Amino acid sequence: MKNTTTTAPITITEKLKWLENRYWKFGDEENLADNLFDLYEVDDDGRMTSQPRRDPLTGETRGLMVLGASGNGKTALLKRALRVDSILTKFRINHDGTTLFITVPPDATIKKLAEIILAKTGYTKIDAKLRSADAWEIARHRFGLVGIKTVVIDECHHIMRPGSGRDVLGAIQSLKHIMQSDPGVALIIAGVPSLKDAILSEPSGETYRRFQELHLTRIRLGSKAAGLFGKNLMKSAKTLGVELAVEDALPERIIFAEHGQVGKSVALGKEILRDAVSRKRDTISLANADRVFKKSTPGLDMTPFHVADWDVVKAELNAIGWGQ
Ligand SMILES: Nc1ncnc2c1ncn2[C@@H]1O[C@H](COP(=O)(O)OP(=O)(O)OP(=O)(O)O)[C@@H](O)[C@H]1O
Ligand SMILES: [Mg+2]
Repeated sequence: MKNTTTTAPITITEKLKWLENRYWKFGDEENLADNLFDLYEVDDDGRMTSQPRRDPLTGETRGLMVLGASGNGKTALLKRALRVDSILTKFRINHDGTTLFITVPPDATIKKLAEIILAKTGYTKIDAKLRSADAWEIARHRFGLVGIKTVVIDECHHIMRPGSGRDVLGAIQSLKHIMQSDPGVALIIAGVPSLKDAILSEPSGETYRRFQELHLTRIRLGSKAAGLFGKNLMKSAKTLGVELAVEDALPERIIFAEHGQVGKSVALGKEILRDAVSRKRDTISLANADRVFKKSTPGLDMTPFHVADWDVVKAELNAIGWGQ
């Protein structure tokens, strides 16, 4: 693990910056680490190495698919892994990192993706007439040349978009070919659940079977993830010097208000803390939280932050169909 400790923030500017940069664990970090463990060789002490695991008969590596609805925290989770994991170090030209992180732009074709990889690995001789298959061949060769051991493709569903001039089958196979490159790279792809459906559309299923899957789900009230969310909120509040009354059940109300969406719940939690810090308040009341929430979700008579006992508020909101 890299050392990620920071000194406690003191001024308002420092506090707001500290809060903005905070990653709040919600439990899937361990699932990701457990899935990553399967992609690499282990040493005699049972520690994961940076060497991708290869099938001795075919020389092929393995893949991991990270799936979740938009805003469920896929990108935040993967970027955190690159920050804290000593194996998944970010590749930059002329640095030691071995993990290439690519975010696929919405309109990218598979050829464009290969060109992005070429550019990111320092290949400057890209010819406009280069064919897609050739661009990919050079790209795969570059991985070995510049020492890339892992490729992360975020927003991967974008290359699977059907339509004229687009080649879904070719896109699926280019993923498979990454896992067949020499000397071998582990592949991590992330996207919305339709990414899996797109890969399953390949009749032979040969690309799909090379992937493990990690599904990010919503936070359910009462779950371990909900408990972690509460701890994160309380810990951040403490560092920022604002007080929260435990009996207000603020974490539960936030998760309920945002229907358990990780990203949205974190954003609302941070916004409520930010509201207090920037207005120099040292406590957070339900009325304050209610005001913050109504700014992003106007037009509501009653919100989960209604000033009354949480069980009563929850029952009333459930009765009018909030949870649906
Ligand atoms: N664990 C977390 N801690 C702090 N912030 C988070 C966390 N998870 C998500 N967020 C924040 O929530 C927002 C949405 O998360 P993110 O972009 O990772 O979702 P996503 O699943 O990648 O969505 P999309 O499919 O739209 O790309 C981001 O602003 C991100 O910084
Ligand atoms: Mg994302």
